[in-house]
Amino acid sequence: MPGDAWAGLADKFADEAYASVKGYVRTYVVHHQLMEHLVPPPASVLDVGGGAGHQSFPLAQAGYDVTLLDPSPAMLGKARQRLQGLSAEARRRVRLLEADGLHAEEAVGGRRYAGVLCHGVLGYLAQSGPLLDQLCRCADGGGVVSVMTGNARAMAVRPAMERRWADALASFDARSEIGVLGVPGRADTVDELSDLMRRSGVEPLEWYGVWLFVDWLELSGAKVALAEWEGAAAVELEASRRDPYRQLSRAFHLVGRKSSGRAPGRR
Ligand SMILES: C[S@@+](CC[C@H](N)C(=O)[O-])C[C@H]1O[C@@H](n2cnc3c(N)ncnc32)[C@H](O)[C@@H]1O
Repeated sequence: MPGDAWAGLADKFADEAYASVKGYVRTYVVHHQLMEHLVPPPASVLDVGGGAGHQSFPLAQAGYDVTLLDPSPAMLGKARQRLQGLSAEARRRVRLLEADGLHAEEAVGGRRYAGVLCHGVLGYLAQSGPLLDQLCRCADGGGVVSVMTGNARAMAVRPAMERRWADALASFDARSEIGVLGVPGRADTVDELSDLMRRSGVEPLEWYGVWLFVDWLELSGAKVALAEWEGAAAVELEASRRDPYRQLSRAFHLVGRKSSGRAPGRR
């Protein structure tokens, strides 16, 4: 990729966004949803566009071997810093790899993983199909593919919560917006990504919302204190599994399993 598109965003994303209640809730909720489907450790996980490791380092702590692939030297630098906060044992289970997700299969030398994560990445690409296909290729038979991205069905939520009524009215059918990090982001629907997964040999298993109440509260200007995060996370996890709540979350988490008779990629 020309230059490092994430150099100017690394601090904002890795330090600021994750230090908020929304950041805590996102990590908690997505981790719990993922653990419903991933085989227990030891097993190998590939985190494509893994950034500073917020999503996959907890898996290393839990005993998984983690390969974090990202094209951004700045984000990998953040990941390297954050590695110091892990136990020595967990640190040894993490490998950082500088590469574009669009060439993930080649970058990992054709290795297959019990879990392939791609959270908060697809929206920054012009289209989802090519990267999603790479994720599916990197999953072992029986392995899971876990994707989190923007929900195109809930595009009016943010402008409405921010009381930008004209923008909200115009955004019901929009597919992109300037996101909270200040860069354009594209959204998908669960159905579209499910179809793309199927075409690449991965059967969708379940989908979830990511955050709802804390997101809406913060967008509307209410401050949610960090001290409240655990209570909020428990509520958000429950809402993320149920209709109609999950349908209104501005991000969704889709988990699929690669078809094969073979056991998933344990060490
Ligand atoms: C919003 S961050 C998400 C990081 C991490 N997945 C998380 O959820 O905390 C987006 C990440 O996508 C990465 N990215 C952007 N384009 C990519 C591509 N073509 N292949 C792989 N990663 C990419 C960026 O470098 C950045 O680290």
